[in-house]
Amino acid sequence: MTRELVQSVGESRATVAIGSGILSSIALRARTAIGGVDPTHVLIVSDASIDATWGEAVAHSFAAAGVAVTRIPLPASEASKSIASWQQIMDSAVSAKLDRKSLIVAVGGGIVTDLGGFAAATYLRGIPWIAVPTTLLGMVDAALGGKTGVNLALAGGTLGKNLAGAFWPPSAVICDVASLATLPEREFRSGLAECLKHAMIGDPSIEPLLGGVSASYMSAEAGDQWRLIDLVARSAAVKLAIVARDPREQGERMLLNFGHTFAHAIESHFSAEVLHGEAVALGLIAAAFASAASGRMTIAQARGVVARVAALGFAVRLPRAIPIEMLEKAAGFDKKRVGMSLTLILPTGDGTAHIVRGAPTDLLRVGFAAIGATD
Ligand SMILES: NC(=O)c1ccc[n+]([C@@H]2O[C@H](COP(=O)([O-])OP(=O)(O)OC[C@H]3O[C@@H](n4cnc5c(N)ncnc54)[C@H](O)[C@@H]3O)[C@@H](O)[C@H]2O)c1
Ligand SMILES: [Zn+2]
Repeated sequence: MTRELVQSVGESRATVAIGSGILSSIALRARTAIGGVDPTHVLIVSDASIDATWGEAVAHSFAAAGVAVTRIPLPASEASKSIASWQQIMDSAVSAKLDRKSLIVAVGGGIVTDLGGFAAATYLRGIPWIAVPTTLLGMVDAALGGKTGVNLALAGGTLGKNLAGAFWPPSAVICDVASLATLPEREFRSGLAECLKHAMIGDPSIEPLLGGVSASYMSAEAGDQWRLIDLVARSAAVKLAIVARDPREQGERMLLNFGHTFAHAIESHFSAEVLHGEAVALGLIAAAFASAASGRMTIAQARGVVARVAALGFAVRLPRAIPIEMLEKAAGFDKKRVGMSLTLILPTGDGTAHIVRGAPTDLLRVGFAAIGATD
């Protein structure tokens, strides 16, 4: 069974299909998505590590439909979500003579869908594309909402994340949960943090679906597969509803940053040790204690968030205790910048959250302390 949602970003509408084994019919879905005609050419941009499996499944479907296919497997790392990779895709597009009726299909996690989508946004000032997320995080977050982009190199060798980008929604998003079967368990769990985030800001019915779900589900029984499809669909629906109401992040879309001010600071210190979702899991705890300190939830509810995060198998404390000041600084707030306004997303404990502009920076300290940072 396949669930279908609608992505609405400004004027654009796209189907988000979630099912098991649906990559084999992607050519048909693509045809429908771009107005009932076959694309003149398909450029498949894939994560090199899954090109032989899921990239191949996509290529096979188009080839069987008689559509010309060019494949470009790329390494998936933040360093390769770059202008150099974008250039490679442009070169392939030029040599394959892609035109405005051609299609880019990005097959991979958020790195590849951000990159492939950005290539589609910029080639010939924009051609259609289809996102095929193959990570849980991609299915419930990165491939949704129409933001595409690449990182830029900053002076000193650090990466400026997503500094070049475009709003360019895909014509369809195809989430085949069967592709999660090859995803390492730790990457799968990382995606669960974003699902929990969505449960806490919009749909508490997601939470009962999180327990015991795992990537290895796909070898399990059909009923379990259905539960995974349901989890992806409900989690995706939370983001899609918010994006539909606020495509350009002028207000409500900020809710999706719940836990992320803390998470980004954690990632800047522990990027070698924690995955994004693991940092988000810690961020959800930090935000819950900040919320309790501001009177929006009780301490018992904040402790409940620790238990909920732990139940999914996440660490609930930083890998090492580091001073709060270091994390505050990484979040862009330190004693020298007291005038800056802090926006925090603070959960209420009943499946909603508040966007708090001008939040006291002390709340950051409370949050970092709750996950083991030292005074
Ligand atoms: N555009 C947006 O709105 C948005 C939102 C959130 C995140 N993002 C971006 O998404 C990226 C993170 O996405 P991600 O977590 O999916 O990371 P990712 O693309 O790096 O994938 C994670 C890892 O899983 C591997 N992988 C992917 N699919 C696999 C599969 N089916 N089987 C086995 N291995 C597989 C990849 O090679 C990689 O090692 C970041 O660059 C982030 O900026 C974008
Ligand atoms: Zn995130």
